[in-house]
Amino acid sequence: MSKRNILVLATGNRNKYEEIVKIMSLSEWDVKFLKDFPNISTPEETGTTYEENALIKAKFCSELLKFPSLSDDSGLEVDALEGRPGVYSSSYGGVEGDSERNIHRLLKDLEGIPWHKRTARFICCAMFVLPDGFFHCEKGIVEGHIAVEPYGDNGFGYDPVFVPLGYENTYAELLQEEKNKISHRALAFQKMAEFLKEFDYENCSIR
Ligand code: IMP
Repeated sequence: MSKRNILVLATGNRNKYEEIVKIMSLSEWDVKFLKDFPNISTPEETGTTYEENALIKAKFCSELLKFPSLSDDSGLEVDALEGRPGVYSSSYGGVEGDSERNIHRLLKDLEGIPWHKRTARFICCAMFVLPDGFFHCEKGIVEGHIAVEPYGDNGFGYDPVFVPLGYENTYAELLQEEKNKISHRALAFQKMAEFLKEFDYENCSIR
């Protein structure tokens, strides 16, 4: 067994990989990017919850590569829309990954709704999976409001319309480093880092 145990991050997104590695700063684990392994992509996210989708991704990766794997799945839940877009956040506007359309639909759906009823939360599920099927999930939740129009140029997705509780600015108006300290993803992976520091990986089935 190698001194530093290998952990594969089941994402094809290098920005996400770098962000998560920074958040976790794990000295005991050598965290690899999925794209460092040739010809492997992430499977289709067919789950109906964040946990299911995160498990699909990490399980696929760890079964195929025979290494422990980490993944995440997140979304935005808006109270006035009964929790939508939720797990379907990335395709809410009709085109997968098209943030402009997603924001456009969200703001249209919330037209005329006053600030105090524009409450929402970002949720992230971080998932750790071993090749033998063991899994562990940690969640990060950030409460906030949906702005009436987009503000800010940083970040991605719904960042220009999400104002975290206690702030006057949207995620997209915060510096990347600021957002990464308080985000739902940061909270979930900080908790996961704590879990992994305590984890008895000497008994993991690493090849
Ligand atoms: P994913 O599961 O992390 O890829 O997130 C699914 C979708 O949720 C993304 O396509 C975004 O639309 C939205 N989302 C997740 N995290 C964030 C965030 O930090 N800022 C803005 N949008 C996000």
